[in-house]
Amino acid sequence: MSAQILDGKAIALELRESIQQEVEAQVAKGKVPPGLAVILVGEDPASQVYVKNKKIACDKAGFNDVSMVLPAETSQAELLAKIDELNAREDVHGIIVQLPVPDHIDPEEIIERIDPKKDVDGFHPYNMGRLATRLPELAPCTPHGVMTMLAKTGIPLRGLNAVVVGASNIVGVPMALELLNERATVTVCHSATKDLPQKVAEADLVVVGVGIPNMVKGDWIKDGAIVIDVGINRLDDGSLCGDVEYDKAKEKASWITPVPGGVGPMTIATLLQNTLQAAYGVKA
Ligand code: GUN
Repeated sequence: MSAQILDGKAIALELRESIQQEVEAQVAKGKVPPGLAVILVGEDPASQVYVKNKKIACDKAGFNDVSMVLPAETSQAELLAKIDELNAREDVHGIIVQLPVPDHIDPEEIIERIDPKKDVDGFHPYNMGRLATRLPELAPCTPHGVMTMLAKTGIPLRGLNAVVVGASNIVGVPMALELLNERATVTVCHSATKDLPQKVAEADLVVVGVGIPNMVKGDWIKDGAIVIDVGINRLDDGSLCGDVEYDKAKEKASWITPVPGGVGPMTIATLLQNTLQAAYGVKA
């Protein structure tokens, strides 16, 4: 079997266009455009690329882009004060602090300072708790974007054996909660998991987000499984690859996401979707 490709770039474009149309309709009714503040502290090169892409997407969708770059020496207190200022602004509906932050900054305290209604990353314990209790409000963008992609396969998730490889707060844990909420049987694997190849071999659906190039081997994949690769790794030759051995996995899977052009574009589109929801209470 050679897998069908889950084209995240195309699905994200479609979602961004419907968001743009909703913004135009709301602005025509006299509402202000959704305001998104992306805060980057320091000069991490990968973060600079993400933030630039977020800015482009924001501008195209007709959002008010309130991005800011703060010096790497910014103190915890200064960053908290900036968040307080953005929390109070009526024209700002979404606030995110790009991760990772410099070592002297405590990310948990920063995330908890963001007003949960403006937490468009969905990382605040309030929003994670809403997802865990099956009452989601603003859900983390990458896992929620994966759910949007999975819906495009038309395959019901109910009863599937889903294996999530990686247990981060950004990807693995909220991904497991999203899949559980759709009635999949979910196994979460991490660095202490015994016999990972066997766990993956039992999966009807496998989602991998570990940040290790080609870590999940193609011959672990069960025939006909859906394979979602959240990893984006840059190799020494400058090329990008995922966390799954793509060429071999493609021969076994029914559906697979490419890297690049799979999950990555969905994360940004879902960030815009969350910001639209925070601004107007509607979902695109
Ligand atoms: N760093 C890597 N992914 C993300 C994300 O989704 N949001 C934020 N704020 N930082 C990140």
